[in-house]
Parts: sequence; C-alpha cells; structure tokens
Amino acid sequence: MNDESAISEEPAVGNIAAPQAESSVSKVNLDALPKAIWFERDATSGVAEVRIIDQTRLPMQGDVLCCRTLEAVETAIKTLAVRGAPALGIAAGLALAVWSFNECTETEPQGYLVALETAAERIASARPTAVNLQREAQRLVVFAHEFVAKAAPKTSSLDELKEAVLKHALSIAKTDEAHCKAIGKAGATLLKKGAKVLTICNTGALATGSIGTALGVVYTASAQEKLEHVWVCETRPVNQGSRLTAWELATAGVPYTLISDSMAASVMAKGWVDAVFVGADRICANGDVANKIGTLSLAILAKHHNIPFYVCAPSSTIDAETKTGAEVDIEQRDPRELAGFTATGVILPQNAQQTTAFDILTEAGLCELTLRNGQQLALERKGGAYAFDAWFATTPSGVQIYNPCFDITPAELITGIITEDGVDGAGR
Ligand code: MRU
Repeated sequence: MNDESAISEEPAVGNIAAPQAESSVSKVNLDALPKAIWFERDATSGVAEVRIIDQTRLPMQGDVLCCRTLEAVETAIKTLAVRGAPALGIAAGLALAVWSFNECTETEPQGYLVALETAAERIASARPTAVNLQREAQRLVVFAHEFVAKAAPKTSSLDELKEAVLKHALSIAKTDEAHCKAIGKAGATLLKKGAKVLTICNTGALATGSIGTALGVVYTASAQEKLEHVWVCETRPVNQGSRLTAWELATAGVPYTLISDSMAASVMAKGWVDAVFVGADRICANGDVANKIGTLSLAILAKHHNIPFYVCAPSSTIDAETKTGAEVDIEQRDPRELAGFTATGVILPQNAQQTTAFDILTEAGLCELTLRNGQQLALERKGGAYAFDAWFATTPSGVQIYNPCFDITPAELITGIITEDGVDGAGR
C-alpha cells in the first residue's frame, strides 16, 4: 500500500499511475492498492493533516487533499472525495484528531470534552446513511470521556488527552484493516476455482482502511487463484464502479469487465455470474441492508436467477438500534449528479501560444467559466499544466429529478452477511 507522501500545500496532479491494461498484468498485486485516507503531523510545526485521495477526480487525476480543519474533512465527505462506510468512520476519527491539534482553543480537559462533542456532532452529520461515520465520532467522544475519568484524580494534561484521542483515531483504520482481511478470507471460502462474481459501487481499498469488504473477497479469492472474473457495475450516477472499482482492479491486476447497471440482468441470464458480492452502509437489526442505489435491483435479479447474494461489511456497520430498513435515513443528493456529467482532466498546452492563453485565463487563480444552460468549467494552473473540472448538462433544463444515493435490500433477498466473524447465512 502507498502509505506516505511528502507534505505539500498544493495538491499534486497525476501523482497516481494510470491503470494498466488488463493484459499487461498477470498476477494480482495487492501492494499496489491505494490508501484512501491517512494522518500526517509536521514534526517541526506540529500541524496535523488528514490526507485524502480526492476520489471525485479519480482515475483521471490523483490529487491528494491536505485537510487541516474539521470543515475541510467535512467538505471532503460531503463532496465524496472520501467515501465508503468504513473510510467514513476513519475520516470521522482523523477529522477530530486534526481539530484537536489545529483548532481547539480550550485549555483544560473539561472544556475540551464539551467542544469535542460539538465537533463530533458536526462531522457525524456530514452524510446520514453510513452508520460508521456517526458511530466512530460517538465512540471517540466516549473514549475521551473515559480517558479523563480514568486519569482522575491524577488529572491528565490536555496534551496527553489529545495524544490519546489521536491514538484512538488511528486505531479505527487498524481495526478496519484486520476486519477487511478477515472478511476477505471468510468470503473466499464460498467460491470455487473459476468463480465469476458481480459487484456494485466501490468497496475496496478506496472505501476502507485496507483491501475492502466485497472487493476484499475479490482480492483474496484472486490471490488464492480461485477467481476468474469480476463484473463491475458502473454504479450511476456517480460511477464509483466505472471510475474507482475499475481503476482499483486494474491497479491490482484482477481481470474485470465493466457493464452499465442495466446490463446486470443480461449477464446473469447468460450464466456468467456465480455470486454477487456487495458492501453495506448500514445493516439493520432485522438484516435489511442499506447500500448504494442499485443494490436492491441486483438482489432481486440474483433471486430470479438463483444466484447467491452476499453482503460484506465489518460488524461496525451493523446498527442494532435501527430495527428495519424503513427507519434508515436515505441520503438524497444533488440533482445535477443525474442531470449531466462531471469531467476532470489536465490540459497540456501544445505550444507557447496556448500556454499564454491559459496563463491569461488562470493568472488570478481559479478561473470559473459559466457556459450556457448553467454548465460550468473551472480551470486552474498546476505547474506547467492546467487542471479542469467541468459539469455538462445532458438533460433539458428544469428537469425534475429524484436522486437517492442508497436503497434498502430486504433481509430475505440476502443469502448471507459476511463480517470479520464469518458468514451468517440467516437469509434465504
Ligand atoms: O456514496 P458512497 O460511495 O459512499 O457509497 C458507498 C457504498 O454504498 C458502499 O457499497 C458501502 O459504503 C460499502 S464500502 C466498503
């Protein structure tokens, strides 16, 4: 895994290699998988940072966001720069660690604990559906309270408390790493040599602290030379499948084929899928599962075609307090995700004239151009190149849109839930 990178004010452009062509990679290489999020602290200044690969720009650009405030991490969560239930739990912990070192103005533990609760509530509400985000924020607050209570009457210093909070935040990723590996092992036992599986969204290294959940099974089975092929659903509207999962699988050297979400029925009908593996954002007490929009369709299709349908998640995604899927708060996202498409890339000027033209446009910093029908194009100079981010409409203006980010798969459509504790096949 790509653990470290030098501290940089400017996000780097293209510092992540483009995916390899499938045919050029023969063996699965899990060491090549990216790390989604990590913590850095400058040894001299003590300034803390959460580093996040900006997943909104993958796989075209590999910018690393350097977040020094709670608000910066909150924005990264809201914009999906960091996403996936376990990674959101990790982000919650690291955001609170960064806030503790860089922003908290309290001078004694009791004041810190009060301010920490407010900061935790803020980060926990950045997105509503993935339980890991709220759970890890709350757990960190409970940990801090217990630390102070245990230290009394010796009374710990605020510095000690902050260091303990950091240690706790870092342990979220460590625990998730162990859980992903256990999920991978448990899930791989369900597959025979030559297995062909189908998946949706991104549930791999980019969504967790390690090899992933559903993709953890894929990687483990690949390393065991059991897995023949992965069908990757595009995952409209934000395309976590075609942008992120396809890139991860290519990076690791796992053979895959991309399909649009609407093609899943067709490949199942042809007998090309032996099992479906998906992740989860919240598993309810009755076994209903909230996961990326489109998961429910896959479960119904799998049942029709008599294909086993497995949900893979760490136990931290199980929410005993939410009784059924009907109680889950499903995030509604910006209609523009469906009304058009975003594009990101890097323009390399081909001659001095082009360089001058782009320099003029970007000399004051970010250049935001508004096109007709509300379409947008932003240009920014990055070294000798110019990065662009654009949104282009593909629908008539004023179109009415319904854009839920997740759906609920009822327990009876799920063959088994795979956690770090093994496979629970209470479903059909
Ligand atoms: O909107 P996202 O990209 O955060 O949605 C992610 C998913 O739905 C994943 O399937 C789920 O979080 C599991 S990630 C291991």
